[in-house]
Amino acid sequence: MTEIRKVGVVGLGTMGAGIAQVSVQAGFETVGREVSEELGERGRATIDRYLTRGVEKGRLSQEERDAAAARLTLTSELSDLADCDLVIEAVLEELELKREVFAELDHLTVPGTILATNTSALSVSEIAAATQHPERVVGMHFFNPAPVLPLVEIVRAPQSADEAVDAAYRWAERAGKQPVHCNDTPGFIVNRILIPLLNDCVRVLDEADVRPEDMDKAMTNGAGWPLGPCALIDLIGIDVHVHASESLHGKLGEARMAPPERLVRMQHEGNLGRKSGAGFYTY
Ligand SMILES: NC(=O)c1ccc[n+]([C@@H]2O[C@H](COP(=O)([O-])OP(=O)(O)OC[C@H]3O[C@@H](n4cnc5c(N)ncnc54)[C@H](O)[C@@H]3O)[C@@H](O)[C@H]2O)c1
Repeated sequence: MTEIRKVGVVGLGTMGAGIAQVSVQAGFETVGREVSEELGERGRATIDRYLTRGVEKGRLSQEERDAAAARLTLTSELSDLADCDLVIEAVLEELELKREVFAELDHLTVPGTILATNTSALSVSEIAAATQHPERVVGMHFFNPAPVLPLVEIVRAPQSADEAVDAAYRWAERAGKQPVHCNDTPGFIVNRILIPLLNDCVRVLDEADVRPEDMDKAMTNGAGWPLGPCALIDLIGIDVHVHASESLHGKLGEARMAPPERLVRMQHEGNLGRKSGAGFYTY
C-alpha cells in the first residue's frame, strides 16, 4: 500500500493553490508545478496570504503558519515531481492538455505513485487511458475554495485499482477533508444534482417573475440552504456555471441541464458574478 509522504500539485491556479495549501497545512512536503516561475510565485503568494489570514483569525499559530509555508517548494519542471507519492493535477479543464500531463507523469514517476485529477466534468477514464498504468489514476474532485469546503469526491474510473482509490481516500481524510466514494459518471455526485437544480432556480426567476433577492430569501429560509441560489451562482462565477451546464447537458442531455438563457446573456455582457463586480447582485 502506497504511503503518501510527498505530494505534487500540477497547476497553482484557483484550485491548485487551494489544494497545495490543504496539503502543506496537513503536514505534507508539497511540490507545486506552474508553467512559469512568475505564475508559481503568484500561487505561493496566494497560499501565504490565506495562511496569514488563518493566523489573524486564530485558526493556526504563527509557528504553524511558517512551518506550513516552508513545506511548499515550487518548480516549472514536471520531472521535479518524480519522487512524489501522490500527484494531484489541477490544470485547465481541457482533455488533451490533461492527457498530455498524465502521459508525462506516468512516464516520470514510479508505478506506485497515485495520479489524481481534479477535473469537474471530464472523464477520468479518458484521462487515465493516456497512461501505461491507468490502474493508479483516480479523480479527486475538490470544491472551491479547497481549503474551506470539506468535500472531496474520490472518483473511481473502471480502470482504477482499489489500492489507488483507498490511498486517495485516506490521504484526503488525513488532510482533514470529508472524502466520499463515487464513480466516473458525468457530474459525479454534487454537480450532477446541483447544476440542474440551480438552473431550475434561474428559470423560475423568469417564468414566475421572481426577484433574485426573493429567490434567495425563499431558499435560505424555506429550504434551509446556507446560501441562496443566485448568491451561490455569483460565487461560482456565471461563466464557470454556464460551462459546467453545457458540459453536463452535452453528456446527459436533460433539458434542465442546459444553461438558462438569462445566464448566457449575463456571460456575454461580462456580468460574471463576484469576480467581475456584478452578477445577480453588485459587489
Ligand atoms: N474553479 C472551480 O470552481 C473548480 C472546482 C473544482 C474543480 N475545478 C477544476 O480544477 C481545474 C483547474 O481549474 P481552476 O479553476 O483552478 O483554473 P485556473 O484557470 O485558476 O488555473 C488553471 C491552471 O492551469 C495551468 N495551465 C494553463 N495552461 C497550461 C498548460 N498549457 N500546461 C500546463 N498548465 C497549464 C495554469 O498555469 C493554472 O495553474 C479544472 O480541471 C477545473 O475543472 C475547478
